Amino acid sequence: MKLQMLTAPSLLACDFLHLEDEVIRAEKSGSDWLHLDVMDGVYVPNLSFGFDIISKLRTVSNLYFDVHMMTVCPEKYLEVLKKAGASSVNIHSDVLSKEKTIETLKAIKALGMDAAVALKPKVAAEEIADFIPYCDMVLVMTVEPGFGGQKFMADMMPKVKAIREMANAVKPELNIQVDGGVSAANIAQCAEAGANVFVVGTSSFRAPDMQAALAEMKAIAENAVK
Ligand code: DX5
Ligand code: ZN
Repeated sequence: MKLQMLTAPSLLACDFLHLEDEVIRAEKSGSDWLHLDVMDGVYVPNLSFGFDIISKLRTVSNLYFDVHMMTVCPEKYLEVLKKAGASSVNIHSDVLSKEKTIETLKAIKALGMDAAVALKPKVAAEEIADFIPYCDMVLVMTVEPGFGGQKFMADMMPKVKAIREMANAVKPELNIQVDGGVSAANIAQCAEAGANVFVVGTSSFRAPDMQAALAEMKAIAENAVK
């Protein structure tokens, strides 16, 4: 099955002094999605932004809001995320029990949002098997979650490959996202391994020309799987 290649600039890399302009810049530069990293300082050693900011940004953008929850208790915030305008909610696989994770994925879907599960580098591909039936996307972290601008971990590619193989058997339409250090230098290997949604923070917002950078990365990804 041929999946669409999608770029998802991470707002974490934008100029926070001009949030509104930055979201508009991303949209005008041809972003497919906007990746929004919510961090609570507990699940990860950093704080970012929360629901009120997302909801304000929703008033200036029609982009698909891909919300990456790096928090404990993500299940508490589903309704507020829906109200804020989230298009999808992505929760980490190691935050809740297996049962509670499935329940939370079902609740995300029941609210009309897409559901996703994220795997930290140390979490094995097999951990995702029970969640695939309940999610639209799996995120394979290619850095330790918490900060933008880190070095891409190429050793996560076998994990992407393994998840794509698992998905091919049961849900070929599953999106696989990579997040962390993704750039023109490594996006081809991500696509070859089976990823089709690319979080690009530093390599998009901090590129000299965001539009050109996004177009280049997307073209490389598309060519890699031709
Ligand atoms: C890291 C975040 C990423 C980050 C990616 O915990 O999940 O989304 O913003 O930024 P870059 O692309 O700069 O590594
Ligand atoms: Zn992220």
